[in-house]
Amino acid sequence: MAGGERIDPWSSEQSQDYARIIKQFGLGTVNPSELPNPGMLHRRGIVFAHRDLDVVLGCIQRAEPFGVLTGLMPSGRMHLGHSMVIDQVKWFQEQGADITVTVADLEALATRGTSLKEGRKTALNEYIHNYAALGLDPDSTKVYFQSSRPAVQRLAFTLGKRTNLSEFEAIYGFSGETNLAHVQAPLIQVGDIIHPQLEDFGGLRPIVVPVGIDQDPHLRLTRGIAGKTHWFNVKPRKEGGLTVALSVQEGNQRALGIIGGKVDNSARAILFDQMAGALAPLGFADILANPKYGTLDIPGATLDDRARVRMQMLALERELGGMGLMPPCSTYHRFAVGMTGNKMSSSQPETTIFMDESIEEMEVKVKRSFSGGQPTVEEHRRLGGDCSKDVAFQYLQFFFERDDNALSEIKAEYESGRMLAGEIKQICIDRATEWLHELAERRDMWSDRLDEFLAPDAL
Ligand code: TRP
Repeated sequence: MAGGERIDPWSSEQSQDYARIIKQFGLGTVNPSELPNPGMLHRRGIVFAHRDLDVVLGCIQRAEPFGVLTGLMPSGRMHLGHSMVIDQVKWFQEQGADITVTVADLEALATRGTSLKEGRKTALNEYIHNYAALGLDPDSTKVYFQSSRPAVQRLAFTLGKRTNLSEFEAIYGFSGETNLAHVQAPLIQVGDIIHPQLEDFGGLRPIVVPVGIDQDPHLRLTRGIAGKTHWFNVKPRKEGGLTVALSVQEGNQRALGIIGGKVDNSARAILFDQMAGALAPLGFADILANPKYGTLDIPGATLDDRARVRMQMLALERELGGMGLMPPCSTYHRFAVGMTGNKMSSSQPETTIFMDESIEEMEVKVKRSFSGGQPTVEEHRRLGGDCSKDVAFQYLQFFFERDDNALSEIKAEYESGRMLAGEIKQICIDRATEWLHELAERRDMWSDRLDEFLAPDAL
């Protein structure tokens, strides 16, 4: 593929070249010092990239509403790798977000052959039960199923008008042999990501999607499609400030002051009054209107104002009859290494720890896990362990040791050779034991209260 590699969301093989991914796909990097109360995954560089996270940070700062939408396929058992998304969701929830969680049962049907019935069972027993145990707050969390939310499917269809097979080939590598259910899955995901902005699901507000980096293709698709629906484009202005430019398309001509293929001066003037009115609450001193050319300049605006200007224009677009869709924001986590040193995958149980793993099984897996220690004790004392390869260390870092000081002490001890490979594995086992016990206890607490997490259409 020209310009780099594709990301395949359905492959278990994921590139670990995060620097290249950031560059190729134009992602922002996460700077923990810019976040309020950064979480463990932020502080450790595990949540490493984003799109438009500043939009959400602005909402947090100004105490404005924003939402989180994320999802998981209900296929197989839930394991450690899945907990990272929930960790990110929890952080946003603590910052004031409302939470919508997709059970991607249609996607699991299309791409894994999981029946809807099977998917429902797995979602309830494995996923939702563990979301609860991992600490999501049911008061602001709503879980729904793709298969039972018509609004999502309608959006998939409506927004499907804005893309085509060539784009799907470019983004996903689909070809003539690709099963059509599989082709529909990304459009359903576009519907998932967009629908919390509909009036029935909370209305216009920024939505952030925390996911693994493998899901970025869906965000690129969704952001592109949302952009194509816009009646007003908000762009940096050459001379400084921002420009709002009309985007005339089939279906919005009259609303944008075009009658019979020509600009109607009085209709256009009314529209520009409405635009100025929409921007008034933001308090810009100067607004330069060019009704004839369909542009409006705001010289005093900065790039930081872009999201708020956009929100005002989207609200106006909705009043005028458009969809008014904010492009989604996103954050991305890295993948933890599999316990054998290769990829983590639920189809290879030895590569991960399941949420309901027995302590005995976990212990065996950690003891057998790939080690960054040296072949002999003598060498280890001299050269030290390699934390970048050591599964026990990595799992403490990604999952089990929440205390940064304790973690850096372990790192220093191990890298200096004072701590042996068997010793770091024992620490990992001890922490994992606490972690699994606590999770099991919390699962018990929630066993007969899972309904509290379900949206009405999921009951
Ligand atoms: N595609 C995701 C997965 O493979 C599941 C999913 C469906 C999703 N819709 C979503 C994730 C919306 C984030 C946002 O697990």
